Amino acid sequence: MRARPQRLERLPEQYFVTLLGRVAEAAKRGGPPLVDLGRGNPEVGPPVHVTAALAASAGGGAEVHGYSPIRGLARTKEAIAGRYRNVYGVDLDPEREVALIPGTKTGIVELALALVEDGGTLLLPDPHYPDYTSGAALAGARIETVPLDPDAGWAPDLDAAPAAEALYLNYPSNPCAVCAPAGTFEAAVDWAERTDGAVVHDAAYIDLVFDGRRPRSFLATPGAREVGVEMWSMSKSYGMAGWRIGFVVGNAEIVERINLLNDHARVGIFEPLQRAAVAALEGPQDSVADRVAAYERRRDVVAAALPGPVVSEGTFFAWVRLPDGLTAEELLEEHRVVVAPGEGFGPSGMGWARLSLAVDDETIELGAERLQHAFAGAPA
Ligand SMILES: Cc1ncc(COP(=O)(O)O)c(C=O)c1O
Repeated sequence: MRARPQRLERLPEQYFVTLLGRVAEAAKRGGPPLVDLGRGNPEVGPPVHVTAALAASAGGGAEVHGYSPIRGLARTKEAIAGRYRNVYGVDLDPEREVALIPGTKTGIVELALALVEDGGTLLLPDPHYPDYTSGAALAGARIETVPLDPDAGWAPDLDAAPAAEALYLNYPSNPCAVCAPAGTFEAAVDWAERTDGAVVHDAAYIDLVFDGRRPRSFLATPGAREVGVEMWSMSKSYGMAGWRIGFVVGNAEIVERINLLNDHARVGIFEPLQRAAVAALEGPQDSVADRVAAYERRRDVVAAALPGPVVSEGTFFAWVRLPDGLTAEELLEEHRVVVAPGEGFGPSGMGWARLSLAVDDETIELGAERLQHAFAGAPA
């Protein structure tokens, strides 16, 4: 066989695969069981009415097992449009402004393909969700970064940001666990108008916001729909990460480009998944509130144990400043607690760590105890 094509050679090290490898090595070396706060996988599945809708549809008739409509069922697009209207105050045309994707991880790659010319530029926040660089590599895009400022609530300085074909933003932020600071979405629209770039807002955690905050869509910002889209995921709001279903919503031209890729590279999404997504979007929402309450409770356990700063306004993470001289590596090797090292999300994450709250209460308590001990013993 010939050599791998450049587009695969360009792919960066996959951060989470590397982290999992390190954790497996540490587990093999023996010692007390590890407390794993490194992963971000919903710990509770979807509510029963959602799995029941999946089963009912799958058991219904042969037709749902064939190819489903390539660009998705109208009913599914109406359900997400209803969600945007009722919860985020945004009116969408379900046919022109909604595309179905098999999860936002796929959307991250497809939007880079759809927006950035080979050799063009993708602008990413630093720190950022690591898979953004994978999308850039596959699209042949160069990456520029705009640092997020910890003293400004992890907002990007978009006035000083370079031009690019596209800018990815993500609030509530993984890993910084903040909601969009005031003015950030407006600054993103200004940046796009000034540079003729497109904005992609990754809203994977949109509903997981704490302390009485209300979920906020980028698309509610004046001018946003003219310049950008939002990626919306079923994974975190409803514990459906394994199901692989999400949406790209907003700017009709960008939605059309995603649908075009869909026409060529995929064939719709399994109909029972779509029916279950509709049940999740339109059915009782208490499971979302229960999730938020559980993450808040665990965030409070971590915040009470550590001297701070412990940032966690949303997502299912806490973003924690490590004391000088203490590294994630030491936490793993000496204190047997797994955290995601901040520098893996970009240089501005240096000295920080991301802790997962998507674990059971017992794990968070044990993890907080070990971290407290490690922080107390760190050199002053
Ligand atoms: C910021 C962010 N975006 C996107 C994703 C991918 O989510 P999914 O592909 O399940 O929709 C994740 C998953 O962890 C994430 O944290």
